[in-house]
Amino acid sequence: MTETKLPPARILGIETSCDETAAAVVEDGRRVLSNVVASQNELRAEYGGVFPEVASREHIRTIYSVVEESLAQAHLVLADVDAIAVTRGPGLPGSLVVGLNMAKGMALGSGKPLVGINHLEGHLYSAWIQVDDEEEQKPEPEFPLLALLVSGGHTELVLMHEHLSYERLGGTLDDAAGEAFDKIGRLLGLSYPGGPAIEEAAKEGKPTAFKFPRAWLEGTWDFSFSGLKTAVLHQVLKLTEEMGLELDLVVEDVAASFQAAVVDVLVTKTRFAAQEFGAKELLVAGGVSANQALRTLIAKDTPGLVHIPPIHLCTDNAAMIAAAGYYRFVHGKVDGLEIDAMPTWPLGEVG
Ligand code: KG4
Ligand code: ZN
Repeated sequence: MTETKLPPARILGIETSCDETAAAVVEDGRRVLSNVVASQNELRAEYGGVFPEVASREHIRTIYSVVEESLAQAHLVLADVDAIAVTRGPGLPGSLVVGLNMAKGMALGSGKPLVGINHLEGHLYSAWIQVDDEEEQKPEPEFPLLALLVSGGHTELVLMHEHLSYERLGGTLDDAAGEAFDKIGRLLGLSYPGGPAIEEAAKEGKPTAFKFPRAWLEGTWDFSFSGLKTAVLHQVLKLTEEMGLELDLVVEDVAASFQAAVVDVLVTKTRFAAQEFGAKELLVAGGVSANQALRTLIAKDTPGLVHIPPIHLCTDNAAMIAAAGYYRFVHGKVDGLEIDAMPTWPLGEVG
């Protein structure tokens, strides 16, 4: 099944699964006509993370203007789009319902079809999006494809044989990769979210300064980051309490060594899985795929293409929801107005 055989369609996407209020218009699953993201950065900083009640109230305040802006930036009105795609889950219930109700209201008022999207499916489809300022046309990912999905809530290895088909090979047994970055960021006194802050600190540090453990979990395609987290905590306590060093002095080396341990396990296991399952190409998506150390290592010496979204499409956005919405819509997978939010929704399970 190749993209060229699929019919044209413009999809309005809406995403409110966590604390980003986002709307976008995407054409033919790959061309972004607009991509508006309102982030709750100040609230995150104030609360030291995402506070569900605050996040959903903020979505209510901003959703209407964000959707309006996405249509205006695309120079379109609602009548010009073919369907409305919206994140149904997984995510925070109070956040999901804001986007879902907005999408339902628009679908009811306009008669446009509604397409419910799994947020994780959205992250995977961000790798299909073509970015205008890229020098060459980016080739479309080819199946069978091995996908590593690494976000704040998930770490999953998924085999895709064709569009919209997901075989889950394994996932984290404890913290998600992004969650581990966030927790270690907090331990090191860095700003929230921890991922970008650790990446920044790691630039000045030595990745070999501390030999942190790698949980290989041989014989499975699962991951675990709790042992690594504990090892980092013990190392920090040793440096600061036993040796009396200032945290500031060791942050960069700890950040670099921690990041190297996470990236090593993610890249090694993904490559092995690709070999084992005969995947032609690799795909990496989700917030953690913005990490340059991960992007560089996985692209190095990997046979076949590695598809990673541009940095601004790695973290939560609605262009990825509209892209996934396109593939569902053109395959006839539309939903009724009765669909509900799915706060817990494993990828590949029917909603
Ligand atoms: O996909 P996402 O925006 O939201 C979820 O669906 O969870 O991912 C957010 C996660 C956070 O845990 C954040 O720390 C992590 O992605 N992240 C990064 C980087 N940028 C975001 N982790 C490592 N390096 C980064 N540059
Ligand atoms: Zn996400």
